[in-house]
This record gives sequence, C-alpha cells and structure tokens, in this order.
Amino acid sequence: MIESGVPGKAGARLKYGLVGGGPGSFIASVHRAGIDMTRSAEIAAGCFSRDGAKNTATGAKLGIERGRVYSSYAEMAETEAARPDGIDFVVVTTPNDTHYAICRAFLEKGVHVSCDKPLCLTTDEALDLDRTAREKGLIFMVTYAYTGYPLVRQAREMARSGALGDVRVVVAEYAQDWLAEKPEDSKDVWRTDPAQAGISCCVGDIGTLIENVVHFVTGLEIDKISAVLSSFVEGRRLDDNAMINVKYRGGAMGHYWPSQVAIGRENSLSFRIYGSEGSLEWNQENPNEMRYAKKGTPPMILTRGGYGLGASAARWTRMPSGHPEGLFAAWANIYEAFCNTLTNRARGKPRDELDIFPTAFDGARGVKFVHDCVASGESGGIWIDGSAPEKF
Ligand SMILES: NC(=O)c1ccc[n+]([C@@H]2O[C@H](COP(=O)([O-])OP(=O)(O)OC[C@H]3O[C@@H](n4cnc5c(N)ncnc54)[C@H](O)[C@@H]3O)[C@@H](O)[C@H]2O)c1
Repeated sequence: MIESGVPGKAGARLKYGLVGGGPGSFIASVHRAGIDMTRSAEIAAGCFSRDGAKNTATGAKLGIERGRVYSSYAEMAETEAARPDGIDFVVVTTPNDTHYAICRAFLEKGVHVSCDKPLCLTTDEALDLDRTAREKGLIFMVTYAYTGYPLVRQAREMARSGALGDVRVVVAEYAQDWLAEKPEDSKDVWRTDPAQAGISCCVGDIGTLIENVVHFVTGLEIDKISAVLSSFVEGRRLDDNAMINVKYRGGAMGHYWPSQVAIGRENSLSFRIYGSEGSLEWNQENPNEMRYAKKGTPPMILTRGGYGLGASAARWTRMPSGHPEGLFAAWANIYEAFCNTLTNRARGKPRDELDIFPTAFDGARGVKFVHDCVASGESGGIWIDGSAPEKF
C-alpha cells in the first residue's frame, strides 16, 4: 500500500497550478483526481479557461484563492514564480497547439512541468522543452498515464529482464469509436481541427499512446515505419484510423492500430508481446489481469497485487488484489513518482529507481512518431526512417 505526503517549498505538501480544466473539459479532472489520490500535492492556482466567467467560476468551485485565479497562463507563470509560497509545478491540460508556449513560459520562470500529450506540434518544439528543462535543472513529465498501471510496470520488468527472451513481434492497438460519426458539433471538435490538433488526429491522440506504452514496456527502438492513414468520415480534415507497421532495431517487428472509428470499442488499448521464451498480453479495459505464456507451459493469468509479481508492480499497487484498481490509480502512480522525484531533488537525495514517469524526451519521441507516420502515409505507406530524435 502506498503512503505518501511530500513537502514543497510552501510547506507540508507540494503546490501546483492548473492550466486548462474549465467547465465541461475532460482530462484536467483526471489529473486532479490522480494527484489528490497521492496526497503529495494540492492545487493552489489556476488559469482554467480563456473565457473570464468560466475561469472565475472554476476557480471558485475548486476553492482557489481569488488572487491566484489568473486570466492568462503568462500572468500565472510570472506571479507564481515571484511568490515565496508559489506553485512547485504546473499541470498543462489544454489542447495540443498551446502546450509549447505554456510549458516554455513556466520553464523560463523555473517551475517544474507536467504536460499532457502529444507534447507539441513539432519535434523541434518538444526537444526544446526537453533541453530547456534539463538546462534549468527542472523536472518535466509528459502524462502518458497508462505507464502507471502496476501490470504495465510488471510487463516492463519482465520484458526488460529477459523473461520473454528476445522480443520478436509486438501487436498493439488503441481502438475507439467516438469519431465513427462526425462529432464536429461537440466540444471535442478541436481534435479534428489541424490548427489545434496538429498534423494528425488519430495518430496524435491515441497512436502516441501505443508508441509510448510499447517503448516503455519493451525498450525497443523503432528503426523504420510504414503507415497508411485514413479519414473515413466524409469532410474530416485529419486521420481517424491508421495501420502502422514498424521494424525495430535488432530485427523485431511490430504492428500498431490506432482507430477512432472502431464501432463497439471504447478505450481498448492493448498490447501483445511475443518473445523467443514467452509472451504477454494486456488490455487497459481489464487492467488488473495480464496473460503470460512461458514456452512449454500452460498460459497463466497474472493479477495486480497477486502472486508472482516483481518489485515495480508491488511498489505501485494501492489496493489488495481482487479489489479492482483503474485509471485514477494509474494517474496517481505517475504523479506520485513525479512528486517524489521533485522532493528528493530539493532535499539533495538520489532518485528512487522505482519512481518512473514519462519525460519530455518521451514526449519528443511521440511527436516524431506522429510526423513519421504522416510522412510515410503521404508517400503511399513507404518505409521511412522512424528512429527516435537525437538527444541534446
Ligand atoms: N494522457 C491522456 O490519456 C489524455 C487523455 C485525454 C486528453 N489528453 C490530452 O489533454 C489535452 C486536453 O484534452 P481535453 O480532452 O481535456 O480537452 P478539453 O477541450 O476537454 O479541455 C481543454 C481545456 O483547456 C482550456 N483552455 C484552452 N486554451 C487555454 C488557455 N490558453 N488557457 C487556459 N485554458 C485554456 C479550455 O477552456 C478547456 O477547459 C490534449 O492535449 C489531449 O491530447 C490526454
């Protein structure tokens, strides 16, 4: 069971500010629920909407001091950085096109950042955030939260310790159906608008989640990519489905299928990993179980909190086995690792090796993946270089 509560510069707990999360928005409330579960940090400031009335109303609803509800993220960065009790980190939950400028504003003021994915619209922007954070000694998390599930961490421990042998084949998908019809009259319209979403809808929105979780678990590095992107719904300006093949360095092969037109599928992110000694299969709609087959023995079901798990899964399990844990706990886990890392750094203590969370470089890796898929798709699905960006 996880116990925590880590001090920040203003006292007993870390303080954070939220950008985005106005009325009717989606993911900010998941960030807040995850952070609340950690008891490591509390909200102290925000800029929740560009609409003044919605901004004020959200601040009041969340119980934020009036003077710390800001009309712009720039004012928030400036003012909070100058306060002795200012926020320790910012949480960025706005549409994709705004991430770069917002993250940059807080980094420049010396504030740690947690930003949602896809990190930026271009790989150069994402790499700039990574480099700036490292140069300033700041911690930057990109909230690829599926990496927080205990059994995903178990899969990582098994794949990376050789329990599967040499990985040969990866088949991973993220299937949804909410874009099977045109939702352009709904709040999610920005995801199909190139100005706000970037060059891709489906690959950027959920293909990046596949790319990240497969890399997180296996450590495999993509060498080449061949992708075919489709836009099945008439009038849609960006992709709503993609068939992506990858060749990894070392010879393994992968197939990724992100789709937002898969009727009957909701948030079906799954991976199957086949190695020379065994295989693993996991689906985030049933995250407390994972199928493991070892060569020559009957397949078994590993359960979160159950027998046979390693240190990482045990560390990040919050409830005893048999009591289902879900998405909020996964978010709590990446935030717990992030907050612990902030606190350890402030105290000059080394980072705990189990405090794993996705970084700005993982975000840059995802942005390049999107661009590579689109480039291959625009050239008729030819194989192109799909390697990760160069680290500064
Ligand atoms: N990690 C995940 O699994 C996951 C899941 C869903 C969404 N996301 C990502 O989170 C981000 C937000 O997605 P969402 O579905 O919550 O969007 P949303 O449209 O529901 O919410 C966005 C919010 O940001 C506010 N906003 C926009 N510009 C702003 C600005 N300049 N200052 C302050 N507030 C501003 C809007 O008013 C709105 O309240 C996207 O980048 C998306 O890709 C990630």
